[in-house]
Amino acid sequence: MSSTQKTSPGATLGFADRPAAPTPRRELEVDGTFPSWLTGSLLRNGPGAWNVGKYRLAHWFDGFAQLHHFDFAQGRVHYASRFLQTEARAAVEKTGKLRTSEFATDPCRSIFQRVHALFDPSTVLTDNANVSVQRLGDRLIAMTETPLPITFDPDTLDSEGTAFEAPGQVTTAHPHYERGTGSLLNYAAHLGPRSSYRMFRVDPDTAEVSELARIPVRKPSYMHSFGITERFFVLAEFPLVVNPLALAVSGKPFIANYRWEPERGTRFTVIDRRTGRLHARIQGEACFAFHHINAYEDGDVLNIDLCAASDASIVEDLYFDRIDGRLAAGRPVARNYPRPTRFQIDLQKRTARRSTLSDVGLDLPVVNAPRVRERPYTKTWGVGTSEDWIDRIHAVDITTGEYRTWHEGGTYPGEPVFVARPGATDEDDGILLTVVLSEHRETSALVALDARTLETVGRAEVGHPIPYGFHGLHTTRKASPDA
Ligand code: CO
Repeated sequence: MSSTQKTSPGATLGFADRPAAPTPRRELEVDGTFPSWLTGSLLRNGPGAWNVGKYRLAHWFDGFAQLHHFDFAQGRVHYASRFLQTEARAAVEKTGKLRTSEFATDPCRSIFQRVHALFDPSTVLTDNANVSVQRLGDRLIAMTETPLPITFDPDTLDSEGTAFEAPGQVTTAHPHYERGTGSLLNYAAHLGPRSSYRMFRVDPDTAEVSELARIPVRKPSYMHSFGITERFFVLAEFPLVVNPLALAVSGKPFIANYRWEPERGTRFTVIDRRTGRLHARIQGEACFAFHHINAYEDGDVLNIDLCAASDASIVEDLYFDRIDGRLAAGRPVARNYPRPTRFQIDLQKRTARRSTLSDVGLDLPVVNAPRVRERPYTKTWGVGTSEDWIDRIHAVDITTGEYRTWHEGGTYPGEPVFVARPGATDEDDGILLTVVLSEHRETSALVALDARTLETVGRAEVGHPIPYGFHGLHTTRKASPDA
């Protein structure tokens, strides 16, 4: 479908293209109260247009990156937005053709071009960094799953070039932050005749990349995020895998090269953070997840928490033709929506025991990260779904499985970003900031919820719809080693 068609006017408003021109910073009308202690900025990333030139990008994840900046002072809220200035978008605007491979849409290439791409992947890897905003020292970067994150100026939203280059062709937009230094920790899959996973660290001051571990792999898994505990990196290798050489010459879009091979199970690759050595590879049940919630050690047991589904059908369910069909038929967004799931990886017994932490459907999970990352915790927040699109926010107690829900008819919230109240002692003492699209008003608003009760405390009207995005970051912009 074209993303501007509306078969179900409510939910599809979030897939309508935004104009290419920047939205200048202006004050938003506030209803209720944004707490006076809330300062700094919420920076969000996500696709803002799917139709450029003659191209109709095929999948939600493909759209061109648009940055959204909300800033807070004394209960007032200002907003600005701007498309990331990328080579990927510039090429389409200039030539009317897609030059780079997006997640699920690919340019037509000759066999010569495909073989050339195998030897020089930089000619085809997109810089359309539309997934997340992260902090590298005192810089802000936009990231996607190719190795080309882009630095941008938080005030002007001007793009400032490639921040660093990851050591592989596929990486994640969900790095972890090293406690004490603020270095980014991430993995990249280096694809070729001898493929490997490479764990790496990015220095927060110099942006220098250093390799920490190299683990050979024959058929790399599609992993959108990974786990980290005090001693270990944990790669949950879901059985959605790719033959690297086929990927290079297939001519299919990136994700269409991955095959679901459930007989492989989920393989947990446990890597020693200090030595970079492979510590264990332990098999668990087949499943698929985009997002890790958190991970921590309990003696020789690693608790690896994910928003996991029984298969990877959600990837296919987010193509526009599928979304459109499901919305028109009044069916939920995904056949298998993820649930909070724990794998207990016993390093002594070499077992991976799977359990469900709550029966509620949850994705785009967040935790009080500076406080609970790599540590025991009780709370996570994320988005859920009912009849059609993502239309609710849940606060889940992962120790009991109980949850609270925020839902307003005809509205569609995005990822809730948690901001702790200064001086808070409880893990869930703070607010959630979420961009909510209203189908009746045909506009989006930034909504602040009490993280504990999920009561709405403040709402700032943007005045136009904001397309469904992915991930954001709240920052007071003072570089903090605990990020
Ligand atoms: Co993500």
